Amino acid sequence: MRIIFTGTPGTGKTTVSKIVSKKLGLKHVEGSEIIRKKGLREGYDVDLSAVIVDEKNLAREFEKFDDCVIDSHLSYFMSSKKVLLCVVLRCDTNKLISRLEERKYSPEKVRENVQSEVMNVCGNDAFERGHVVLEINTSKRSVSDVARIVLEKVDFLLNG
Ligand SMILES: Nc1ncnc2c1ncn2[C@@H]1O[C@H](COP(=O)(O)OP(=O)(O)OP(=O)(O)O)[C@@H](O)[C@H]1O
Ligand SMILES: [Mg+2]
Repeated sequence: MRIIFTGTPGTGKTTVSKIVSKKLGLKHVEGSEIIRKKGLREGYDVDLSAVIVDEKNLAREFEKFDDCVIDSHLSYFMSSKKVLLCVVLRCDTNKLISRLEERKYSPEKVRENVQSEVMNVCGNDAFERGHVVLEINTSKRSVSDVARIVLEKVDFLLNG
């Protein structure tokens, strides 16, 4: 079983996916680690303040893990046939700005990410690829609350 997490940086993928993987006894796979280990970084987009990644090969690498929770905003590039559930974490603008400013991101990088969030880039792409999408607004919820919502959905998909 594979559960994937996507969403704009700062929406809480790592925080929540680690809890979910632990609860379900599944391996936690961090996208940035795979990108580094497998040399999938193709460059850096200065305008977007973002790393350019070989997304097709990243999806192939993800597919090598069977029972896992995948933590990467690019996880939706995987085939929807190979994924039980795609969790899209969302966050309102003000909350996201403060989370990203806490990380000392540059104003440009904060703006780029907020724009992506407002346009729901990850959610729309996940939807377009046919994933079973669970979108959660994390802004006014605790981390454990968000994890519980995911676990309930997984239980529903597995057991009805
Ligand atoms: N309800 C919530 N769900 C998830 N994270 C939350 C929530 N409330 C507050 N946070 C905080 O928001 C931050 C989210 O950071 P996290 O590193 O998990 O994001 P991320 O999506 O993995 O980012 P990146 O894409 O850069 O790896 C954490 O500091 C977390 O404690
Ligand atoms: Mg993360």
